[in-house]
Amino acid sequence: DRIVAVIEEFFASQQALAKKKVMITAGPTYEKLDPVRFIGNYSSGKMGFAIAEACAQAGAEVTLIAGPVSLKTTHPAIKRIDVESADEMYNAAVSAFEDSDAAIMCAAVADYKPAECCDKKMKRSADDMTLKLVPNRDIAAALGAKKRDDQCLVGFALETNDEEANAQSKLAKKNLDFIVLNSLRDSGAGFGYDTNKVTFIHRSGEVEQQELKTKAQVAEDIALRLRKILP
Ligand code: C5P
Repeated sequence: DRIVAVIEEFFASQQALAKKKVMITAGPTYEKLDPVRFIGNYSSGKMGFAIAEACAQAGAEVTLIAGPVSLKTTHPAIKRIDVESADEMYNAAVSAFEDSDAAIMCAAVADYKPAECCDKKMKRSADDMTLKLVPNRDIAAALGAKKRDDQCLVGFALETNDEEANAQSKLAKKNLDFIVLNSLRDSGAGFGYDTNKVTFIHRSGEVEQQELKTKAQVAEDIALRLRKILP
């Protein structure tokens, strides 16, 4: 009986997100300054790719919108769209969201982009240089504003201080169902690591603090919580 129960549980977990379409953004964005330079960040994409894998393992049809990363995807249920800038990610995400049951916003999107991109390589000079930056659109907030009752939206918050309060305010501002908070104050959490220590903050106000886990385990925890709130 025990063996049958374990086997049933295993196959049930592989079907938890069957027939669900999940869109995921992952990695950094690069904001072009000229043909050879950009403004970027240290996001490795590991967390978002792990979530794509976990959702596909749970039976979902996954659209993974990936910024420039060196990671590979292997699962046949993952359709990957490679983008570079926040604007490209915005366009891909807005068009994929319409037909998705859930979106998980894991990308580290640049807050600003250069006001102008030079079509020729900028030349060095002896003078100081000032770059004018303009804000990028908030992709998560745009999807939050469009979200239907049958859709779920999950965000991430990477904080260095006042972690819970900042995450709560992002949850409300972006109309998220839950937010995955990680603090740069926790060792083993954040960009580049294979582990993460997260806190789930739900719309209901429920707060779940987790231990340090592998990103694959955190991804499974996210897929599980998604299943619980999807209609
Ligand atoms: O406001 P902040 O950038 O800290 O919010 C983080 C959350 O919002 C993440 O889920 C991130 O993927 C998403 N985000 C976004 N588009 C932006 C900025 C953040 O989707 N331009």
